Amino acid sequence: MAHDALKVAVLISGRGSNLQALLDACADPAYPARIVRVISNVAGAFGLERARAAGVETQVIRHKEYDSREAFDAALDQAIRASGADVVCLAGFMRLLTPGFTAAWQGRLVNIHPSLLPSFKGLHTHQRALEAGVKLHGCTVHLVTPDLDGGPILAQAAVPVLPGDDEDSLAARVLEQEHRLYPLALRLLAEGRVRVENGVARIAGLADSGVRLLNPGP
Ligand code: GRF
Repeated sequence: MAHDALKVAVLISGRGSNLQALLDACADPAYPARIVRVISNVAGAFGLERARAAGVETQVIRHKEYDSREAFDAALDQAIRASGADVVCLAGFMRLLTPGFTAAWQGRLVNIHPSLLPSFKGLHTHQRALEAGVKLHGCTVHLVTPDLDGGPILAQAAVPVLPGDDEDSLAARVLEQEHRLYPLALRLLAEGRVRVENGVARIAGLADSGVRLLNPGP
């Protein structure tokens, strides 16, 4: 591991396709981050197999074995610190974290959410986007604060909502972009380019990509 690479713990609950995208990015020696541990609150999560296949240490911490959210989060905190991680990435981690935990990891706790925040916070984002009739949908990588899905936005990707879309087709289109976006956003953090001012993330050295997305097109 490059001695200056950012050390990352990834928290998962399920299939771990975003974890896979991060593992793949970290396999490039030029990428500025390394995953040091993957922690799941679900023993059978497929993401654990992905981590093992990549040679990354895994750990299961079952929330059901703890009396309170605080006790579970304290166990998480201890495990993450023991791993030596500088940053925590949530990747389909289906537990709400306590304000104490989010405060302890403020600025170093990242999440990916399947909507263009601040629209569609919470669950069932694709179905709600379809019901609202939005023409652009997408995903967001953001820093986590006690405000659910409300922390500073690091990066977003937009996709069109197409005629005939259902929840599954829209989710698949968004997921493809999630896998591009999460490694990109983590890189910004690892390169030390993120500064938060009044709840807004300012990213140093960004150029205009020139990409403009109209749906329906002109
Ligand atoms: C993703 O859609 C992510 O945005 C959301 O949960 C899903 C996790 O999928 N937070 P995966 O486990 O990474 O495949």
